[in-house]
Amino acid sequence: MSEPAQSPKRTANRGRLLSALAGEALAPPPIWLMRQAGRYLPEYRTLREKAGGFLDLCYTPALAAEVTLQPVRRFGFDAAILFSDILVVPDALGQRVAFLEGEGPKLDPIRSGRDLERLDAKQTSTKFACVFETVARVRQDLDAEVALIGFCGAPWTVATYMVGGAGSADQADARAWAYRDRAGFQRLIDIVTDASLAYLDGQVRAGADALQIFDSWAGSLPDDEFERWVVAPTSRIVKELSSRHPSVPIIGFPRGAGANAGRYVEATGVQGLGCDTSVPLPEMRALASRGVAVQGNLDPLLLVAGGTGLETRVHEILSAMQGVPHVFNLGHGIVPQTPPENVARLVSRVRGEDG
Ligand code: CP3
Repeated sequence: MSEPAQSPKRTANRGRLLSALAGEALAPPPIWLMRQAGRYLPEYRTLREKAGGFLDLCYTPALAAEVTLQPVRRFGFDAAILFSDILVVPDALGQRVAFLEGEGPKLDPIRSGRDLERLDAKQTSTKFACVFETVARVRQDLDAEVALIGFCGAPWTVATYMVGGAGSADQADARAWAYRDRAGFQRLIDIVTDASLAYLDGQVRAGADALQIFDSWAGSLPDDEFERWVVAPTSRIVKELSSRHPSVPIIGFPRGAGANAGRYVEATGVQGLGCDTSVPLPEMRALASRGVAVQGNLDPLLLVAGGTGLETRVHEILSAMQGVPHVFNLGHGIVPQTPPENVARLVSRVRGEDG
């Protein structure tokens, strides 16, 4: 069902994001952006300076709630995404996690079955409780028709950071462990899967309306490994949460999955599929015919460049997704050098407004 471009707030009161994830093709589509809160916003940088460390910000509900709301206030997105991080899960499990200025995350690497003894699932609740409190505060402050998205990292992607001790281009340490000692690596994946389930379940209980599972490094695994470390744990999370909370849709974002994306949709049962920048638009449309809403997939660097290139591509994406359930988003997270005025322009273009 479509509706006039000038009344985006008048769909069913469950809101436009949830309607699209329930399979409705909306014109214009709902829009939010991965990593929509963050350093490209001056109001974030100001608050971030006062908060101390990045994890302190994640665990201080009043500040994290404020940062979650900043981009929604400024741009009028159809959804807010909880301000937290995928590495809150290893941190809450007791692994040392630090965010160093300009260097990205650094963790005390876990390299063997014996290192797993350093993790303690019983201690996650204190830190998770701070995040759940943020969710509750945000839900209270948001307009009813704006959805609140909770999230976690997929077990595979979180494990690549836990094993590598940092981000890496090829996730070699995690892949090597998975080949060398499948049972040991499976134990790590199970620990992360259980903790992620508790993390998402608490977010839903606190008021999250939808969830996204970020599998940023799904693309580094060949077929059988993709099945074992991406599809299987994600399926477990989706099935468990969907049985506890049937009305809460889940978006999977298996970045770089390529030809495995269709299989991922069928096996996991996600209601939404985040498509990365490399997915051709006809392929994205074809994926929607498998019964998911597709989300994406503007190149974040085109949002930096702006201009007519941006306008043309937005038009191409909107045209290609007409008539299928679509959520407008980027193909990966917004980057810090993005001019906020380009984001405002993107939102008005997607909504068919002038300016
Ligand atoms: O606005 C939002 O999207 C909500 C908050 C959010 C953050 N990280 C805040 C953040 C979300 C959803 C994430 C997801 C995340 N975190 C992913 C998956 C998505 C992706 O980009 O692939 C990953 C891999 C991480 C791990 C992570 N956190 C890295 C690699 C880094 C450093 C590099 C970077 O992008 O800054 C972070 C730090 C981080 N997470 C920041 C923010 C706003 C910047 C930290 C700061 O302000 O100093």
